[in-house]
Amino acid sequence: MKTKLTLFSILVCIAMFSCNTSKSKYKSYSGDAEIERKVDSVLSLMTLEEKIGQMTQFSGRGDITGPEMQNEVMPYLKKGLVGSMFNEATVEKVRPLQEAALAESRLKIPVLFGYDVIHGFRTIFPMSLAESCSWDLDLMKESARIAATEAAAEGISWTFAPMVDIARDARWGRVMEGAGEDVYLGKLVATARVKGFQGEGWKDLESTNTVLACAKHFAAYGAAEAGRDYNTAEVSERTLNEIYLPPFLAAKEAGVATFMTAFNEIGGVPCTASKYLYKDVLRDRWDFRGFVVTDYTAINELVEHGIAKDEAQAAELAANAGIDMDMTGGVYLENLKAQVEAGKVSMESIDIAVSRILEMKFLLGLFDDPYRYMDEARQESTRMKPAFLASARNIAKRSVVLLKNENIFPIDKSSRKTVALIGPMIKNQTSLNGEWAGRGDRNQSVSLFDGLQEKYKGSNIQFTYASACGLKGNDKSGFKSALNIARKADLVLVAMGEDFNWSGEAACRTNIQLPGVQQDFLKELKKLNKPTGLVLVNGRPLDLSWENENMDAIMEAWYLGTTAGDALADVISGDYNPSGKLTLSFPRNVGQVPIYYNAKNTGRPIPKDDPDADYKSTYIDVENSPLYPFGYGLSYTTFSIKDVKLNTNTLKSGEQLTVNATLSNTGGLYGEEVVQLYVQDLYGSVSRPVKELKGFEKVGLEPGESKEIQFTISEDDLKFFDINMNFVAEDGDFKLWVSTSSSDESNERSFNFKH
Ligand code: NOJ
Repeated sequence: MKTKLTLFSILVCIAMFSCNTSKSKYKSYSGDAEIERKVDSVLSLMTLEEKIGQMTQFSGRGDITGPEMQNEVMPYLKKGLVGSMFNEATVEKVRPLQEAALAESRLKIPVLFGYDVIHGFRTIFPMSLAESCSWDLDLMKESARIAATEAAAEGISWTFAPMVDIARDARWGRVMEGAGEDVYLGKLVATARVKGFQGEGWKDLESTNTVLACAKHFAAYGAAEAGRDYNTAEVSERTLNEIYLPPFLAAKEAGVATFMTAFNEIGGVPCTASKYLYKDVLRDRWDFRGFVVTDYTAINELVEHGIAKDEAQAAELAANAGIDMDMTGGVYLENLKAQVEAGKVSMESIDIAVSRILEMKFLLGLFDDPYRYMDEARQESTRMKPAFLASARNIAKRSVVLLKNENIFPIDKSSRKTVALIGPMIKNQTSLNGEWAGRGDRNQSVSLFDGLQEKYKGSNIQFTYASACGLKGNDKSGFKSALNIARKADLVLVAMGEDFNWSGEAACRTNIQLPGVQQDFLKELKKLNKPTGLVLVNGRPLDLSWENENMDAIMEAWYLGTTAGDALADVISGDYNPSGKLTLSFPRNVGQVPIYYNAKNTGRPIPKDDPDADYKSTYIDVENSPLYPFGYGLSYTTFSIKDVKLNTNTLKSGEQLTVNATLSNTGGLYGEEVVQLYVQDLYGSVSRPVKELKGFEKVGLEPGESKEIQFTISEDDLKFFDINMNFVAEDGDFKLWVSTSSSDESNERSFNFKH
């Protein structure tokens, strides 16, 4: 790191040698004594107002991601009362803000710039849920690193990602931002994304292709009742600890630098004031040493929640819960000083919070060069590099999930003559990036239409086109001409879905069918009896029961990002054989949600051989299983799993159970399969899920090729929170399955565990 002698560094040196700094009780993130000394030195120079300023984050308003707050940032920057800003990007916009802070403030502490870099910054990758369907952790890490590289070249040194909230309810608009419903996969994805954004350890933070990551939203935000955003999460302590917290712990163990609070309450306590979450769990149990930022105005909202009579009390509650930084609410700035002076918040807790924030600024190298993320030349040369676009296309094609396929896909370049391209998503560009698409230019995303034209150039395929209808609204005036075009075609390819802002924050739905008149059009189209494939571009599992009955093929394309059309053309043409597997169950209808594979058996499960049995835990009008389960996804080839063998039937503490199986490609094309290992603990001191994912491997095989896969299970894999909330494995009997989906039980084996 090159060291520049700034006025500030001179001040720090003086402080380091002359002040008898009273070392605060903060435990540093890096554990580096030199950094700790620097942090203490800076702290010793600060007034209480300046400290509270560090705990304050302002919005730059370049993007709007929440209710607009009134305060103008410049005067505060000049007084050194801004620790961080967000919602502003590009060197041109960010540099003057940093300059204002450095030129006029007393201590010249650099400002930390955050941004929602969720699934890409300029080069937009598939939305996070889609990307998780690739089950490819290396690629997830790669996309996070590219996003970090692009963002770090445009003034940003902190991303509000990854979102590691487990999501089980397709109504919730934010399912698109996470890795789906599963804890095991969620932990691994959290780890991959944190390392992608930040690197392997704190020393990597100094690099200009990493940014601080933020595990959000702590906690159980995904459990919002009825899938309505910001709603109360009604979760037991057990479910919280078993399902919702583990991906956060994985993020912490991967070194995540920051956490963000959640808007919801749990058991009467809004997360942003939860001592249980932020002191007992995060600090005492997990020893997290980074800093915690609130979600947008979440301290102010403690008043609306009804646990604070005013913002002064809200400031006190949040600070005493250990919340270090106030995102855009201005509550700390306005109230914290008085609360400290009144003895309601200790000076020590302020010092600890500020130390955590200062340390990150040191680790990023901001004290040495506050402009190190603001280099015009780097910005120019980094933006949407060809290699980034190639990576985005590679990841996008691997995120597509083939849900049904009866002789439609792939559309061979030499086979059919006329293909009618119909639907509002065929030429759509604006929705392809999905929500939270950073500074991705929606006009640069490749439409499906353009992707197909390029792919089939020079082939025998003739394309015709009609939009038929919009993504929403009731206008059916385009039906007639679209049906005429379909009538003349050999094959119809329909692309439909949800407008991008129908998912993401504050975008929940109670009806999760295709919006508007899209399904009405499909019903008309069905009458023509043409071979029809449906491509879906959307942000959540939809109710596709009708489409599953009536369409010949369904391809879930999600929001694939900048290269969407090219990636989809790769899959549709068969140049890439789809390998995506769902990470969130698709219900048969909205009445089934929340629905997830790792559910409890209940005392009255429906017998497998008697689906009509009475007085069982089921519905009258629909079966219990989802339409498409977790782990499900088709390929253009076929696979079989055989010879599942265990090295022992009794696993003992300290030993390993190995599970071997042979995967074979039994079809005629190269393909990739995700082999999944599920385990069921048959009885325990508390009830256990009907199955839980415990391992997976993605394998590519040529036609006729086989490969032996091996999984291992040890005591740690069988641990859960027992009746006394101790995390242990109990002696007992287990089942396991090696399968290609959570619903496939063909390869079942048994074992037991003994201490
Ligand atoms: C509110 C969202 O809940 C959070 O995820 C996001 O990071 C912030 N706004 C900042 O945009």
